[in-house]
Amino acid sequence: MAEFYIENYGCQMNLAEADSLKDLILREGHSIADSPLKADFVIINTCSVRKTAEDRIYGRLGYYRGLKQTKNPFIKVIVMGCMAQNTGEELKNEFYDIIVAIWGTYNKQKLLDIVNENSSDIVYREMTAYDFMEATPESKFPFKAFLPISHGCNNFCSYCIVPYVRGREISRNSSEVIDNVRRLVDKGVLEITLLGQNVNSYNDGNLNFPLLLDKIANHTGIRRLTFLTSHPKDFSKELVDVIKSNKNILKYIHLPLQSGNNRILNLMNRKYTIEKYLEDIEIAKTIEDVVLSTDIIVGFPGETEEEFLETIEVVKRVKFNEAFMYYYNPRPHVKANELDGQIPLSEKKRRLAYLIDIQNAIKNQLTKNYINKEYEVLFEAQSKKNKNEIFGRTSNNLIVFTEADKNIIETIKRVRIDSISNNVLKGNIIS
Ligand code: SAM
Ligand code: SF4
Ligand code: F3S
Repeated sequence: MAEFYIENYGCQMNLAEADSLKDLILREGHSIADSPLKADFVIINTCSVRKTAEDRIYGRLGYYRGLKQTKNPFIKVIVMGCMAQNTGEELKNEFYDIIVAIWGTYNKQKLLDIVNENSSDIVYREMTAYDFMEATPESKFPFKAFLPISHGCNNFCSYCIVPYVRGREISRNSSEVIDNVRRLVDKGVLEITLLGQNVNSYNDGNLNFPLLLDKIANHTGIRRLTFLTSHPKDFSKELVDVIKSNKNILKYIHLPLQSGNNRILNLMNRKYTIEKYLEDIEIAKTIEDVVLSTDIIVGFPGETEEEFLETIEVVKRVKFNEAFMYYYNPRPHVKANELDGQIPLSEKKRRLAYLIDIQNAIKNQLTKNYINKEYEVLFEAQSKKNKNEIFGRTSNNLIVFTEADKNIIETIKRVRIDSISNNVLKGNIIS
């Protein structure tokens, strides 16, 4: 039997898969180490979406090379996930002394065969049929879980590597999804996030996404339900109606904008116009107290100053609670690399810093609106800064801190927001 140490990077899909793999490792009789110092195997689950994500992995591999030379001469590293799928052989050649296996994004459950075979020269990057693993409670917060309901992406946004490393979109059978939700509820899970690279295009031939969401909300006993990531091209009033009619679905929608200009959206191959996006936002805003978040890329090839400023105008108009903002990173395979007008890094950074300032000001303004409001809050953990404070998330996914005893963690309480400190919401439990 072997001891595994797992390091995870990237999106929630990676987190869900790493947790499922941990569960499988334990079920097969192996153990999970809490430090790499004694581990037989280190599994690094990687991300390729931006260059910085890949640079970090090179840093970690350098660290493990050092560890093998000093404190753990028997350590074996397995590189798994999107970067393994993308640059498999290259990584293996460069770190031949520590990497025993490169394992892409498919068939992660077969990875344990390596231990039994004692192999040290495996490169597995097949993308034949994706097998969904049983979703398990999150290892960090066991009362929450991420549940992949679809995998892969057919959209080929021109900047994005995901379709190349995750393959074509496939939906998990809806009865299997529902059974998995029930098993999670039986294990004490209170909140589930349904996942897909393009979650709202889910369709298993039986149920579309709004129907599946409605069924899970009504027939599984789950206390809180949410989902990531929606694509504007598949956004519908039907989905908004399901959110409105189910108290246990969080009043929260993440809808990536990417750009506020139609020419850039078209070059990005996003398949919607800014007019359609703003219509969707108006429909979403009919949900009482809805919280909206988004993703934005600035400095896409050829983006002019005027086009960038159109993105700023949309950000000011919509008023997102949260925005994940990036400057365009050239990635292998993607079509945007071939476009003229690549923007210098210094200019991309300037646009990003400007956007971040605007968004921060909007967020600060919005935060004030929550004073005196009451929400159901699922408490998650102790604050790192102040041990007397516990934080949780409201029924519209806002983070709230409250002074309370640790035993409220893992429970849902009614909280009134009564102050803001350093842009953080503070509240009191009222029942
Ligand atoms: N499927 C989701 C969607 O359609 O928005 C998101 C997938 S991606 C993992 C998360 C975010 O990373 C994207 O929304 C985009 O803003 C950003 N991203 C992807 N490729 C990028 C690139 N080449 N440069 C900068 N940001 C990128
Ligand atoms: Fe990437 Fe676009 Fe697919 Fe999202 S929808 S994963 S941004 S290709
Ligand atoms: Fe990264 Fe792969 Fe997710 S590239 S963002 S870990 S799908």
